[in-house]
Amino acid sequence: MRVSLLLFFTLGIACDDTRRDRELSELGGEAAAVAPGELHRPGQPCGVCHGGAGPAHGRFSLSGTVFWTADSQAPVAHTVVRIIDSLGAQYAVRSNCAGNFFVRDSEFEPHWPAWVKLEFANKTLEMRSPISRERSCAGCHADPASASSVGHVYMSADATPLLEAECN
Ligand code: HEC
Ligand code: HEC
Repeated sequence: MRVSLLLFFTLGIACDDTRRDRELSELGGEAAAVAPGELHRPGQPCGVCHGGAGPAHGRFSLSGTVFWTADSQAPVAHTVVRIIDSLGAQYAVRSNCAGNFFVRDSEFEPHWPAWVKLEFANKTLEMRSPISRERSCAGCHADPASASSVGHVYMSADATPLLEAECN
């Protein structure tokens, strides 16, 4: 009994490790011109590395990237990402010039589930369903949109960006 339980747990852990290794290798290396930091890896599920047993030191309770439209890869800076948790606590963070945003778990850890909404100029876009476990927006909002993914997070239904974000 003891032996089989031990085997069960060991295999369970091995599976987690294998899954993380696969996820990490699918994400690939750093882009040549972007150092690891707040502007790197836009659109990727930050939490694979910045959470759990991931390799990065910074731990994020929620993180992601905001693009302009559903079809565009242009990032939107200065979008307010507003988080409201199940106790009514609120926290807001702004996307940077890469469209990235992140909430450090030392600053705000929501009581799950949590709801999110985006605000830019006079536009508001709400995610109707709550988030209960997945801490990377891109965990569900990966490109391309398909039966298993809603596609990347975007701010506008308009085809023309109001302003292009630039990082320099
Ligand atoms: C494949 C792994 C991986 C992914 C995915 C990833 N990062 Fe990182 N990140 C790192 C590593 C490694 C470092 C540098 C070493 C460290 O900080 O631990 C780093 C550093 C950072 C830093 C600077 C260190 C800090 O804590 O201030 C920020 C900010 C950051 N990443 C934000 C993000 C954001 C936002 C995303 C998603 C859009 C993201 N990262 C996706 C691995 C990753
Ligand atoms: C567990 C999966 C999941 C996670 C994690 C997730 N989303 Fe969503 N999101 C969805 C689904 C499914 C929809 C479409 C239905 C809905 O609005 O609830 C959606 C819709 C949205 C919409 C509305 C889009 C529209 O056209 O109306 C926004 C905005 C949004 N999400 C932003 C975010 C942000 C920002 C994060 C990360 C902080 C995030 N989502 C994390 C699954 C997820």
